Amino acid sequence: MEVKTSLLDNMIGVGDMVLLEPLSEDSFLENLKKRFEHNEIYTYIGSVVISMNPYRSLPIYTPEKVEEYRNRNFYELSPHIYALADEAYRSLRDQDKDQCILITGESGAGKTEASKLVMSYVAAVCGKGQEVNKVKEQLLQSNPVLEAFGNAKTVRNDNSSRFGKYMDIEFDFKGDPLGGVISNYLLEKSRVVKQPRGERNFHIFYQLLSGASDETLKKLKLDRDFSKYNYLSLDSASVSGVDDAANFRTVRNAMQIVGFMEDEVQSVLQLVAAVLKLGNIEFKPESRSNGLDESRVKDKNGDWSLNSVLERAFSYRTVEAKSEKVSTTLNVAQAYYARDALAKNLYSRLFSWLVTRINESIKTRHKVMGVLDIYGFEIFEDNSFEQFIINYCNEKLQQIFIELTLREEQEEYIREGIEWTNIEYFNNAVICDLIENNKNGILAMLDEECLRPGTVTDETFLDKLNMICAQHQHFESRLSKNSKFLTDHSLPHNCFRIQHYAGKVLYRAEGFVDKNNDLLYRDLSQAMYKANHGLIKQLFPEGSPAKINLKRPPTAGYQFKASVGTLMRNLQTKNPNYIRCIKPNDKKSSHIFTESLVCHQVRYLGLMENVRVRRAGYAFRQAYEPCLERYKMLCKKTWPHWKGPARKGVEVLMSDLKVPAEEYAYGRSKIFIRNPKTLFFLEERRRQCLQDLATLIQKIYRGWKCRRQFLLMKKSQVVVAAWYRRYAVRREYRKFFRANAAKLFDICVQIQKYFLNLKKNLPSMSPVDKSWPSRPYSFLDGVHAELRRIFHLWRCKKYRSQFTEEKKAVYEEKLEASTLFKDKKALYPSSVSQSFKGDYLEINKNPKYQKLHSAVDEKVLLADTVSKINRANGKGSPRIFLLTKKSVVLADQKSGQVKASVPLLDLASVSVSTQNDGFFALKLKEGSSSAVKGDFLLSSERLIEIITKLYRLSATNADRVPFLVQFKNDKVCVKFIQGSPRNGSGASCKRKNNRLLEVSVPSTA
Ligand SMILES: Nc1ncnc2c1ncn2[C@@H]1O[C@H](COP(=O)(O)OP(=O)(O)OP(=O)(O)O)[C@@H](O)[C@H]1O
Ligand SMILES: [Mg+2]
Repeated sequence: MEVKTSLLDNMIGVGDMVLLEPLSEDSFLENLKKRFEHNEIYTYIGSVVISMNPYRSLPIYTPEKVEEYRNRNFYELSPHIYALADEAYRSLRDQDKDQCILITGESGAGKTEASKLVMSYVAAVCGKGQEVNKVKEQLLQSNPVLEAFGNAKTVRNDNSSRFGKYMDIEFDFKGDPLGGVISNYLLEKSRVVKQPRGERNFHIFYQLLSGASDETLKKLKLDRDFSKYNYLSLDSASVSGVDDAANFRTVRNAMQIVGFMEDEVQSVLQLVAAVLKLGNIEFKPESRSNGLDESRVKDKNGDWSLNSVLERAFSYRTVEAKSEKVSTTLNVAQAYYARDALAKNLYSRLFSWLVTRINESIKTRHKVMGVLDIYGFEIFEDNSFEQFIINYCNEKLQQIFIELTLREEQEEYIREGIEWTNIEYFNNAVICDLIENNKNGILAMLDEECLRPGTVTDETFLDKLNMICAQHQHFESRLSKNSKFLTDHSLPHNCFRIQHYAGKVLYRAEGFVDKNNDLLYRDLSQAMYKANHGLIKQLFPEGSPAKINLKRPPTAGYQFKASVGTLMRNLQTKNPNYIRCIKPNDKKSSHIFTESLVCHQVRYLGLMENVRVRRAGYAFRQAYEPCLERYKMLCKKTWPHWKGPARKGVEVLMSDLKVPAEEYAYGRSKIFIRNPKTLFFLEERRRQCLQDLATLIQKIYRGWKCRRQFLLMKKSQVVVAAWYRRYAVRREYRKFFRANAAKLFDICVQIQKYFLNLKKNLPSMSPVDKSWPSRPYSFLDGVHAELRRIFHLWRCKKYRSQFTEEKKAVYEEKLEASTLFKDKKALYPSSVSQSFKGDYLEINKNPKYQKLHSAVDEKVLLADTVSKINRANGKGSPRIFLLTKKSVVLADQKSGQVKASVPLLDLASVSVSTQNDGFFALKLKEGSSSAVKGDFLLSSERLIEIITKLYRLSATNADRVPFLVQFKNDKVCVKFIQGSPRNGSGASCKRKNNRLLEVSVPSTA
């Protein structure tokens, strides 16, 4: 957003004197002082810029400042010379209005600096490009050249312009500079031959002697020592802070940029040298026969060997009248006068030539912007012809200022449709008339005196003035007919006083006639023309024999009046812009504000007059748009936005604020405010309102900021918390993970090692092998035991899978034996290693037992020899013991004859001891057929096998053991048989005979 500022913002004092309230000289000075002390060196009077010399460099001319003021309205920013330059440049470029910038002020007030600032600003903002830059450079570089030749150190200013300068800068339609024309006014040439105390000759003399190379000086036949030259005053040959040698190089460089050829530069330097050497020519009297003194050049062998023509010109003067030539001799005084006149003329013509030469380089003709840097009003203790001329010029400028200001004001009123009220102001036309009137003006009378035959002196001139101007209200003289001044001792007899618009100035009449005459004897012009030097010849065209002109050359006053007239006509065709320079003190100091001195300048610059003229109608005016923009917050109807036309808005605003109707007027595009106090009323209201608005904005902003901050913090808090939780969990997890990782890893390794070791150290596959690797880790206790168990089971299974059916049966028997006898009979352990063979006698193969074999019709499960214990004597007799599925058979060992056959069903039980013996008793059931002989007591080494087999047989026969029931006297056997499932749910019982009862049991499947 573009920040709109205004001249009214941040004002120190008031930025525009038109707004000064109350308006008085004191308040005017006070305002200037206040601003000066705050380094605000620029102040406006309407569109006029007052510039106070700061006497030090301020940081207000930077490229950034140029940009700041570029294309901004005049009153938009605080007062600055750039604002004026910008305004002038834009009106020139955009509205095709030729401009002039009039810079006035007393010596040392900063006019030249101001003119350079304006030029540099324009150079900075106008177009760019190779050609344009060259022109810009040429225009800017003309300054150092002209300053070297036309400026000098005076008691007031170390770089005082001793000539007036007006420069037209020419632009094309785009606003790019094309070139320029410089006009120069009245160089103070008397300075060439004589300088007041504490002052210097023109800079170029010192620059040449200090800065030129030895070789150049030798060529010019010059000596570096200033004291060798009469024209150079010695008391202030060097100026502090001024480097003449460096400046000489700058000037040479500038001349080159402006377009001087090398031989032209040399000629210029030769002329400068010639002037210096002219000053060293001395004369001596030589008595002539007619008794008069004739001057002769002293010391001819000096630096400058004069040619005879020139030498003669210093001794004789030829006056031509009506084709008659009369030669008169010159005395020494006249010779010195002639020498000085020549030096002055030579130098001033050289200066004019320089200006012409620069113009040749920069000339074109298009729309122009003129910059006038002319000497300001001068009031010295001793004022002479020069001051008179200069002050006349300033009178003319003041007049044009009033004229143009009023005209501009009037035009604006007409343009805006505001009624024009007559403005009371002092018109200095009457003073101009006193000086320039062709009939009885001071200049006309001076010319008349100069041209009058007979003795003419400054006194006769003063007499004439006393006669003619006595009644003029701005002319004062002791000898005038005006008795008022007869006793005024502040007015010496040989002086006259003029009451200029800017104050009274006392002029000494001495030298007026001579300076106005500005005589150069024709012999000298001719001698110069004859010189063998192109440039000198060019400077003295009247010396040409072909151009003998008997008419007197125009006087200095006449010439000046003519050139001022041209200048005024020139300025009147242009849009004026004023810079009024003021110097704050006489000491060239940056911090002193000498009120009396400033007051004096304010007076003679006519600044109060200026403010009055400007304020006569309406003090302040502003276009409707910016006015509404600036004050719209003062009324609810216009704040914050006004939809209608700006003028309507301003009208609403003014009536709402109850500003008295006579205080303002509505123009076509602007509102005109009559008194500054009305403006200040608006400003004050605005300031208050802005404060309230600022508070409101601050309040809302603070609220918004806090809220935003709060929301941000809230959001951040969630994020932070989330991250923290994540972090905390990760930290915990990491702690856990890290702490246990090694352990876990270790455990894994241990487990792996354990399994590998186990694999390597597995015990044998024998089921009876009791070994098992030792337990490596206590935490694997359970696993270790379980693995041992599994391994053992697996090993057993493997072992078992190798068994044949027979072996399996044997082992089953062995297992049965174990359950029957282990830990019950001492004989058992010895039987473990014996395999149960069954048929030890190989009965079916042994022929001896053929008979026996055939007597037993079933398969023999066991055949062995046993001892039958005799009941009577307890002795044993060998018997063959056969066991079949159904019975036990005892036979004679030798014959194989069956001695007893007992069906297994008749066996009630078998008894054995717990001892390590082979005895066993077969107990027979009571009442069975075999029981007749009683039980059998037998002994065998294979008792364990025999009993085991018997036991197994009786177990398989168990279900065949008859289920005997003892009914009254007879025993009945109950037989269980398996029935079909369909035969009903319950068991059925059926009597078969008187000994057998059959029970049919349904199957469960
Ligand atoms: N704006 C400025 N900023 C800094 N210094 C300045 C400014 N204006 C003037 N000066 C100083 O004041 C001195 C005198 O200024 P300047 O030569 O412009 O005066 P002038 O009005 O042209 O005087 P004269 O009538 O004698 O030529 C300058 O050399 C410079 O040191
Ligand atoms: Mg100057």
